[in-house]
Amino acid sequence: MSKVTVIGAGNVGASVAQLLLERQLAREVVMVDIAVDPASGKALDLSQAVCARGGAALIEAGDQYVLSRGSDVIVITAGIPRKPGMSRDELLKTNAAIVSDVALKAYSHSPDAVFLVVSNPLDVMTYLVREVLELSASRVVGMAGVLDSARLKHFIAERLGYSSKDITAMVLGGHGDLMVPLPRLTTIGGIAISEFLSDDEIGALVNRTRQGGAEIVGLLKTGSAYYAPAAATVEMITAILRDEKRVLPCSVFPEGAYGLSELAIGLPAVLGRGGVEKVLEISLTEQEQKLLQQSAEAVKETIRSLENILKSESDG
Ligand code: APR
Repeated sequence: MSKVTVIGAGNVGASVAQLLLERQLAREVVMVDIAVDPASGKALDLSQAVCARGGAALIEAGDQYVLSRGSDVIVITAGIPRKPGMSRDELLKTNAAIVSDVALKAYSHSPDAVFLVVSNPLDVMTYLVREVLELSASRVVGMAGVLDSARLKHFIAERLGYSSKDITAMVLGGHGDLMVPLPRLTTIGGIAISEFLSDDEIGALVNRTRQGGAEIVGLLKTGSAYYAPAAATVEMITAILRDEKRVLPCSVFPEGAYGLSELAIGLPAVLGRGGVEKVLEISLTEQEQKLLQQSAEAVKETIRSLENILKSESDG
């Protein structure tokens, strides 16, 4: 049994902790947050939830990183959401400062952990964590593709009335408007989606997937989606802790694969005890490769903005 620390005990972080405890995936779950009282309240409530089900598990919360000592997986969900009037760059600067700070503090107590990044902007935060920790590419991974693929699966299942259980979907690219859903590799019970839906119908579902996060933000009014992000994160944690060698779309470091480097971006990868054990380089059509390239450009643009922000800070 393993130890998992979730940094940021907000909606996503606490939901991740809840799923880990419910599924008995970890011996110990720790939540670290600067907001100590709410995090401690959630930890107490979760401990009692475990007891209500007749189980036993250890859950602790606080703002001291020593609590996280010896974790196998560190999940980073800390950050702030974009507030009205806040520019993208301001959000980027704030979340970059938070994510690099928490990553360094967590690393000092768990130098062997796999770091799973959930904070947005996802691919850039994943890239940043690896930069600040100077870790090998296998030890840092971002959660996006599992979530985006789940959204696409849901829309297909809802449209056709078939079980989402039999739907396989793959969404690559950056976690943003330019994500790259691959209808060609989307199947229902092993049958190509094109046997069920026209190109236009598939296009509409793909577009809804691209806007999947925004649709939920619009309905919730405050905050963003968390049930599905947490579920997707826990799928990845499970694959790592149980050494499942699952093939999942994750934000990873291509290091030359697909002609891409110097960024983290969504690609099919093998997840196991060592973290990202392999990035799978599959054949893409010319059009898919072009879309992936455009998505990578958008991620790189944000990485450049971040580097400029950091540079102007150090100059100033
Ligand atoms: N150290 C630790 N925790 C922090 C820090 C910090 N420096 N700064 C902020 N936090 C905590 C907040 O106190 C809050 O509890 O991070 C938590 C974020 O939680 P929410 O605001 O509820 O956000 P959530 O919906 O959980 O989303 C978290 O995941 O999906 C992404 O875009 C989303 O980046 C966001 C992240």
